[in-house]
Amino acid sequence: MSEDRTCQLILALDVPTREEAIALLDRIDGSLQWIKVGLQLFTAYGPDFVSEIADRGYRVFLDLKLHDIPNTVAKAVQSIASLPVEMLTLHAAGGSEMMRWAAQARNDHARHLSLLGVTVLTSMDEKQLREINIQTSPEEQVLHLARLTLDAGVQGLVCSPLELQPLRQEIGPDPLLVTPGIRPSGSTTDEQKRILTPSEAAAAGSSFIVVGRPILQANDPAEAASNIRDQLS
Ligand code: C5P
Repeated sequence: MSEDRTCQLILALDVPTREEAIALLDRIDGSLQWIKVGLQLFTAYGPDFVSEIADRGYRVFLDLKLHDIPNTVAKAVQSIASLPVEMLTLHAAGGSEMMRWAAQARNDHARHLSLLGVTVLTSMDEKQLREINIQTSPEEQVLHLARLTLDAGVQGLVCSPLELQPLRQEIGPDPLLVTPGIRPSGSTTDEQKRILTPSEAAAAGSSFIVVGRPILQANDPAEAASNIRDQLS
């Protein structure tokens, strides 16, 4: 990962089929570098599809949110090491031992890969944390798991835009912070609630913003992506 601190744009490739994904990649050609592949496409089309995206010149963020026993997660990281993937998510709730094993596998087999810890899913509120017997607030839990994640040797975190400032205060400027929940000013918010604009997220310390529908559903996706990138520089 480069040392450049400019916030970069990642497109969340949330479309159901390979054909739609490839058509979209052709349309956005050159207007951004990074693509996020999630469970939907990876489950359907697997590693070959990841290679197909990379062969077109894109850099790949694989959002699999791994969470299992330490040995299984470490072996999954080792398998992913052979793919053209540069960022990979895992659940911080898997615990520090799981994350240390994952970080070790990354160090041994995939130094080009940045691991990112997912702390508390933004779909979880205080009530749902109580349900799984976590008694702190979501904000405190995010900070707690963020410390655990970075102490385990993981390179960064996925976080909501509203967590950027408290997290940067807590962890300093170096760890990667990758932020969905972004909406360019003037665009529809969809169901996203706790949102920032691209320039607000960059100013608050985001390393990468993840944007889906404002690009995917635009009449001209390449132009939408370029407009967002302009707001980051
Ligand atoms: O279309 P939209 O810009 O809302 O897409 C954002 C992407 O980031 C989606 O892939 C979504 O699953 C993901 N995401 C999110 N909010 C989170 C975590 C991930 O929107 N808290």
